[in-house]
Amino acid sequence: MQKILVARPIFPDVIERLKQYFDVDWNQGDVLSADELTRRLADKDGALTAGDPVGAAELAAAPRLRVVANMAVGYNNFDMAAFNAANVLGTNTPDVLNESTADFGWALMMAAARRITESEHWLRAGQWQKWAYDAFLGSDLHGSTLGVIGMGRIGQALARRAKGFNMQVIYHNRSRVAPEIEAELNAEYASKQDLLRRADHVVLVLPYTKENHHTIGAAELALMKPTATLTNIARGGIVDDVALVEALRSKQIAAAGLDVFEGEPNLNQDLLSVPNVVLTPHIASATEATRRAMANLAADNLIAGLGEGPRAGRPLNPVNPDVIGKARS
Ligand code: GLV
Repeated sequence: MQKILVARPIFPDVIERLKQYFDVDWNQGDVLSADELTRRLADKDGALTAGDPVGAAELAAAPRLRVVANMAVGYNNFDMAAFNAANVLGTNTPDVLNESTADFGWALMMAAARRITESEHWLRAGQWQKWAYDAFLGSDLHGSTLGVIGMGRIGQALARRAKGFNMQVIYHNRSRVAPEIEAELNAEYASKQDLLRRADHVVLVLPYTKENHHTIGAAELALMKPTATLTNIARGGIVDDVALVEALRSKQIAAAGLDVFEGEPNLNQDLLSVPNVVLTPHIASATEATRRAMANLAADNLIAGLGEGPRAGRPLNPVNPDVIGKARS
């Protein structure tokens, strides 16, 4: 039997499925340190990860490793140059999380715009003495302009929901999406600067790459309206959190909703004392059904990638398909 590492606690029934094909080393404890991950990968043929960094050092120490299946759509934890050099296949879990993640983007955006967590904290602290006409005034979603940066599958699911709120949709992406998608979403392409100037609510749904590091920093925040909100459901590092804290404190923008953070789970502590930001612990895809679908898809990719099961050799979601069939180097 081939050997695999499951680097994180996941649904036990998915582990049982994997055990039908593999000898499974399952980490049910804390996140593995880089040293521990390297040690446990050393004799493995495959691995199931969830954001665990895998790069040249880990691959060099694991000469048998051929497939790493990430239980996430984003795979910036994989060093793809190292994967390609070693002919190691990476897989991810797209599509199954689109709708839940788009729902959550809206929840966060609405919570920021309508000051839901901020007012709840105030209420819980026993400060509600009377009704006041100007208590927690926020900004409307309906009839406003939604700016989506990153118009992939999740961005499109997010934009589709704007119809019900009668919003104008503008978007920025590396390249324009097909005209029929623009028409279906009633979405207008805009430069990043133009979008930031015009949007009432900006949502980030782009992958994290070196080029996207601090896509939103002090200069970009300065372009936004003082009434605007910024929501990040993509990855930490896309926003310069230090610049964001400053922009929120000085009311350069009205509010933010963040599900992802630079260096998470060790987020910038200054965010904790900023009232006009809604903070959630990277849970945009976290519904029972979606997390189950992601775990099963990651398992299916690993099973197929390692040449087992009904799709042997043909995993559904290869991120570097060119290495399929090549000998490990
Ligand atoms: C979650 O962040 C994912 O990339 O799926």
